[in-house]
Amino acid sequence: MLEAIRTAELGDDVYGEDPTVNRLEELSAKKMGKEAALLTTSGTQANLVSVLSQTKRGDEVVLEADAHLYYYEVGAFSVLGGLIPRLVRGHRGVMTPQDIQAVLRPPDIHFPPTSLICIENSHNRAGGTVWTPSQMKDVFDFAKSHKLSVHMDGARIFNAAVAQNLDVREFTRYADTLMFCLSKGLSAPIGSLAVGDRKFIDSARRYRKMLGGGMRQAGIIAAAGIIAIEKMVDRLKDDHANAKMLAKGLAKIEGISLDTSQVQTNIVAYDVTGLGINAADWVAKMNDSGVMAGVVESGRVRMVTHRGIEKEDIEYAVSVAEKIATQFNRRK
Ligand SMILES: Cc1ncc(COP(=O)(O)O)c(C=O)c1O
Repeated sequence: MLEAIRTAELGDDVYGEDPTVNRLEELSAKKMGKEAALLTTSGTQANLVSVLSQTKRGDEVVLEADAHLYYYEVGAFSVLGGLIPRLVRGHRGVMTPQDIQAVLRPPDIHFPPTSLICIENSHNRAGGTVWTPSQMKDVFDFAKSHKLSVHMDGARIFNAAVAQNLDVREFTRYADTLMFCLSKGLSAPIGSLAVGDRKFIDSARRYRKMLGGGMRQAGIIAAAGIIAIEKMVDRLKDDHANAKMLAKGLAKIEGISLDTSQVQTNIVAYDVTGLGINAADWVAKMNDSGVMAGVVESGRVRMVTHRGIEKEDIEYAVSVAEKIATQFNRRK
């Protein structure tokens, strides 16, 4: 990637003149089976321009209660788009048409009109769980029968596709628009793409400019992104195998609660309440020994496998967890 960045052919992308960015956007659109794509600075920006392009101020957006778009994006679509979230409690991140039907309200002068359903695949806070194409189709068909658009936060959509052993287009065909990240399992340093039809991308491009996301010689970002898409998808299966190995090791530890059957991709989420410790303290202790983990909520922890994490690192992480758990189990 560094070599590709060093030798990238560059131009001014605000004028659509960076050939490397154009190549990345064409490649992304083709991979996803859509007309066009737009490079953005981050997944958060790609989600925001996607949502803004499909709504108007005062609209309601249906989302799963733990969606990244709602939980971790600073309320951007409400603050900047004047949009109202309508939350649905999903099943490990997945919503059914019945769940959505239950929160949809009929057209009425008292209610904000609903215009968009957002789904997340794989679902971060649910622990990297996957929406299958058939689950997506159910929601997509429901959306169309109610004249609603569907946006997919597919930050890790390639993880979902690899986990299901399917082409990514089997998923994207059930979303009007989507975003995916180059900078997660695909291992590029920066960047995400919004993807959809040309009219949507024209609008998203204006919003990107408005948000200060119009970059000049962005080919240095796109060059790494092209490698991410062309060469880094197949290796996601290694991350998934490592995540399974980590999950199995952690699940054996007394006081840790973890359902290994729910570890479907590269995220391992588990509960440490049984150790009499909260997630923040657990994470701090893991970090002290060089193992990175994050807090999902008070007793729940998240770990992620990625390029550069090998089997020996997983063994080390499990041994650190065992040591910490032993200290807390002794105190009980
Ligand atoms: C599901 C999901 N969507 C969106 C994002 C936002 O991506 P970024 O950190 O590039 O803004 C993330 C980041 O972790 C994510 O997990």
